[in-house]
Amino acid sequence: MDFFDAVAGRRSIRSYSPVPPPPESLARAFEAATLAPSQMNEQPWRFIVVEGEARDRLCSLVAGSTRMLRDMFPLLDADSLAFAANFLNDLGGAPAAIVVTYPAAESEGDLKVNLLAAGGAILLLQLALRAEGLGSVCVTCADWVEDAIRQDLGYQNERLAAIIPVGFPDGDPGEQPVREDKTVRLREWPV
Ligand SMILES: Cc1cc2nc3c(=O)[nH]c(=O)nc-3n(C[C@H](O)[C@H](O)[C@H](O)COP(=O)(O)O)c2cc1C
Repeated sequence: MDFFDAVAGRRSIRSYSPVPPPPESLARAFEAATLAPSQMNEQPWRFIVVEGEARDRLCSLVAGSTRMLRDMFPLLDADSLAFAANFLNDLGGAPAAIVVTYPAAESEGDLKVNLLAAGGAILLLQLALRAEGLGSVCVTCADWVEDAIRQDLGYQNERLAAIIPVGFPDGDPGEQPVREDKTVRLREWPV
């Protein structure tokens, strides 16, 4: 798939078929993601693939964050909150999820640059998954249960960047809605 087609066609997928993602597709996507730039080429990210029982346990833990949704998104209406809670309860039925972590650093500066690099790798991962015909979504609202996830997966000295459910999309989410202010922001350059 052409790069720009992958960029234009990527959407956040919140409903998945139960068919597992092919291991070779995941392998290609990880290879692409790890080519992301990073400070001093430190590659400060780790991808933990979670399937089967571990995926079910992750879903149970993430479901625990739904009670915080109203505090996190005070502007969401009742329907959107219910949709978000329903999605989080089972990660949209995704047969696999990728837990992305980055090294816990002492300084705020190091934390920021680690997370920034991990974010770049996540975007490359999502685009590569799209090119493989797979869907994904970057889920960050599980921060409330970060400690429980760390304990369950058994990693230390790492922070949770995001959870990326992955699988074949169940349905077509359509095109990305255009934000009213998008063009204005683009027109701000050059100043
Ligand atoms: C940093 C980041 C955090 C996000 N966190 C969440 C999240 O916690 N839950 C969720 O359902 N979607 C999350 N998303 C997905 C966005 O809602 C989505 O990218 C945005 O609405 C644009 O839609 P699209 O990805 O379909 O183009 C996140 C995306 C990014 C980049």
